[in-house]
Amino acid sequence: MAQMYLLVAGVMLCSIPACCLGCNLPWIHCWKSNEIFALLKQMQRIRTPSCLKDRADFKFPWKRENITQIHMTQGLCYHSLMLQQIFNLFTTEDSRAAWNSTLLDKLLSSLDQSLKQLEKMEGDNLDCPDLGHAAWKYFHGIHLYLEDREYSPCAWEVVRVEIKRCLSLI
Ligand SMILES: *[C@@H]1O[C@H](CO)[C@@H](O)[C@H](O)[C@H]1NC(C)=O
Ligand SMILES: *[C@@H]1O[C@H](CO)[C@@H](O)[C@H](O)[C@H]1NC(C)=O
Repeated sequence: MAQMYLLVAGVMLCSIPACCLGCNLPWIHCWKSNEIFALLKQMQRIRTPSCLKDRADFKFPWKRENITQIHMTQGLCYHSLMLQQIFNLFTTEDSRAAWNSTLLDKLLSSLDQSLKQLEKMEGDNLDCPDLGHAAWKYFHGIHLYLEDREYSPCAWEVVRVEIKRCLSLI
């Protein structure tokens, strides 16, 4: 009965848009994606439209169809990789200066828990160098952009929106 309940809860939570595409990961991880997504939403401090001039194309490396493919073959590795990069981005000192620290701590804690969980599930099999290189390039671009804009509130807002979008794809 308890198992049935978990299954139903899992299906329900997985129907929320921010959930991993295809949802082939255990529901608890889906739930964390949604939590991370919700926190990123809550973190908004300034109106996005006031930052139009700071918009940038960060060139997310994959299209939806590629991601579906990746989920089928290297899903766990891909998720770990992306969550780790998001964690690295928000764990910086400049991020702490930009965001509400209560919300930021919650975000980092959710990311950390998801990462630990993925590690436990995957064991030693968290090695996907091709994906790693593409992800590194994408996040490196984001770091450079922030540096270039001197970590301005608008630059962080643009990045927050980008990460929300990226999270909805991974
Ligand atoms: C993405 O998917 C398309 C069609 O499935 C494929 O042709 C293309 O090579 C893929 N791109 C990458 C970067 O994997
Ligand atoms: C930070 O966010 C929390 C939770 O939403 C809120 O209670 C608190 O007042 C915020 N702090 C600042 C300094 O805005």
